[in-house]
Amino acid sequence: MEKLIETINVTKEFPVKKDWFGRTIEKLVALRDVSVYVKEGETLGVIGESGCGKSTLAKTILDLEKPTKGEIRYLGKNIRFLKGKEYRNYRLNVQAVFQNPQGSLNPRMKGWEIVTEGLKINYAYIKKELKEKARELIELVNLPLNALESYPHQLSGGQKQRLAIARAVALKPKLIVADEPTSALDVSVQAQIVNLFLDLQEKFGMSYFFISHSLPTVEAVSDRVIVMYKGYVVEEGRTEDVISSPLHPYTKLLVESTPVPQIGLKKKRVISTDDEKVPESGCPFYFRCSYRKKECLSFDMKPIVVENGRKVACLLFS
Ligand SMILES: Nc1ncnc2c1ncn2[C@@H]1O[C@H](COP(=O)(O)OP(=O)(O)O)[C@@H](O)[C@H]1O
Ligand SMILES: [Mg+2]
Repeated sequence: MEKLIETINVTKEFPVKKDWFGRTIEKLVALRDVSVYVKEGETLGVIGESGCGKSTLAKTILDLEKPTKGEIRYLGKNIRFLKGKEYRNYRLNVQAVFQNPQGSLNPRMKGWEIVTEGLKINYAYIKKELKEKARELIELVNLPLNALESYPHQLSGGQKQRLAIARAVALKPKLIVADEPTSALDVSVQAQIVNLFLDLQEKFGMSYFFISHSLPTVEAVSDRVIVMYKGYVVEEGRTEDVISSPLHPYTKLLVESTPVPQIGLKKKRVISTDDEKVPESGCPFYFRCSYRKKECLSFDMKPIVVENGRKVACLLFS
């Protein structure tokens, strides 16, 4: 299968403090040398705690943020150099669903206008055709037909997210970047939305770049996962491999601290000393790691290939 989207050594720095002359004197590194890909038809799950760089990575893939270093490739081509029709083709084929449906839907537009906005902009449909398309889309995402004439505030959180999903699917994209699409919803509707993503993929065969901080959610939807920590991809592999035998000590911590679904009890938690402290060099997980050695402070965090398709950025495996 072809690589639909690929990031090549992507680093993203944000200036957080500038001097009198506008020169950056303090920067925050949100992504560090990130190289990941999504193949056609597959779901790549992205997991890691808040602030580790998941949304920033999603935004670089969507061309909403420019990498400071490295490049984003769509079907093998650097998106920076895509022009005219080729760039438009990339934008149509890479759609997004964000965490907060409230913020991503225009409050002054009715449901049918929201889901067909992309179609209206990109194709010469007349109003009657758009309304027909809207009806199909609304049914596709299991919304009641009255959602066509409703404004976002008249819909529940789950219904709004269905609308956002319908809008993304309307353009028959090859990839949907879903940034924590269930995190803002009531627990009772989260599973329904996850199932909707799965149904749509079965129908249309598109790929997902699926971000979640919930391991069970990522487990349910992903073929492969990447685990991020402080801007690094610390582990990558097939979902079942990563979850059944996590290699990186941070992945171990994530897996072991995930509640057991049936009884809602937490499993034993591995030591977590000083969550915020990060060493000046080497592995950023150092202070939280139960396996740490002095050498970790000079480890350069390059992913090590441990077996086919499985990588881990940890000195223990070098
Ligand atoms: N526009 C921005 N300006 C400055 N810092 C930012 C900006 N966007 C994100 N960051 C910082 O980059 C880091 C990664 O953020 P983000 O990608 O949103 O993480 P996540 O989605 O995993 O929670 C965080 O420390 C965040 O504060
Ligand atoms: Mg985020």
